Amino acid sequence: MTIMAYNLLKGKKGIIFGALDHKSIAWKVAEKAYEEGAVFTLTNTPTAMRFGEINELAEKCNAEIIPADATSIDDLENLIQKSMDILGGKLDFILHSIGMSMNVRKKRVYNDLNYDFFMKTLDISSISFHKLLQTCYKFDAINEWGSVVALSYIAAQRVLYGYNDMADAKALLESIARSFGYIYGREKKIRVNTISQSPTRTTAGSGVKGVEGLLDFTERMSPLGNANAEECANFTIVMFSDLSKKVTMQNIYHDGGFSSMGMSMRAMRQYNKSLDGVGEDDI
Ligand SMILES: NC(=O)c1ccc[n+]([C@@H]2O[C@H](COP(=O)([O-])OP(=O)(O)OC[C@H]3O[C@@H](n4cnc5c(N)ncnc54)[C@H](O)[C@@H]3O)[C@@H](O)[C@H]2O)c1
Repeated sequence: MTIMAYNLLKGKKGIIFGALDHKSIAWKVAEKAYEEGAVFTLTNTPTAMRFGEINELAEKCNAEIIPADATSIDDLENLIQKSMDILGGKLDFILHSIGMSMNVRKKRVYNDLNYDFFMKTLDISSISFHKLLQTCYKFDAINEWGSVVALSYIAAQRVLYGYNDMADAKALLESIARSFGYIYGREKKIRVNTISQSPTRTTAGSGVKGVEGLLDFTERMSPLGNANAEECANFTIVMFSDLSKKVTMQNIYHDGGFSSMGMSMRAMRQYNKSLDGVGEDDI
């Protein structure tokens, strides 16, 4: 579905982290931001860049790529300064779209975590957000009413089988958004929020244990159905725009209603199919 552009980000400058391939949520955000008139730099780790797809996005969006490991303060300083040089001034929006767990990758379950991996999960998926905000603060890199968004998941609030140490990472990420949002709001009128997105078919999403079953479950549970990556990008653009100026320190669910549900008719129907002797009429 193509949605017409509204020039919502006309004249705005930004940095977009986390576009790995065309499935990435950050990839869709970059496409939409470009359509809405923004100029921005793209960044990812040197390893992610070796996949090469980001060059295609950069060309399409007329954006420069600046490699950075989001856990490295040196890399972040270089990224922020170079971005301001390239874009010709301070930033108006930043997307943090980063997540990684070696425990998930190596199939270490939550009651058998490797603690070096756990620290890495937190550093990459959460503390990098603090490092980013603190570096921007130090360089006074964001304009008044600028908007910073990080992507989160409902496993921060509720237990979802298989999400592992990423649940703790998302809880910390959302807390950092609130804590820094207070300081940045008070002192610079800058907004910091997290968007809690439906499960989505991306490289990171596919790493979650039992993701196909989860996608089916959340689809059945959500009155509006799962939100896809493009829809997440549209909402992110609203959060970057001046239309959401007084929204800060929030974790906003972009999940088709899943977060407010306990049981739905569609999920109940499917569940009952597996119960011996219990038919639709017995409900
Ligand atoms: N896919 C889902 O189901 C889902 C649901 C809710 C939230 N999210 C969140 O959305 C965000 C984006 O994930 P995605 O689903 O688009 O998957 P993705 O795999 O396309 O993106 C994850 C990105 O993180 C980057 N990254 C990893 N380590 C990094 C580091 N040290 N420094 C900088 N970048 C690094 C990767 O290179 C990649 O581009 C993540 O925060 C993820 O947790 C995803």
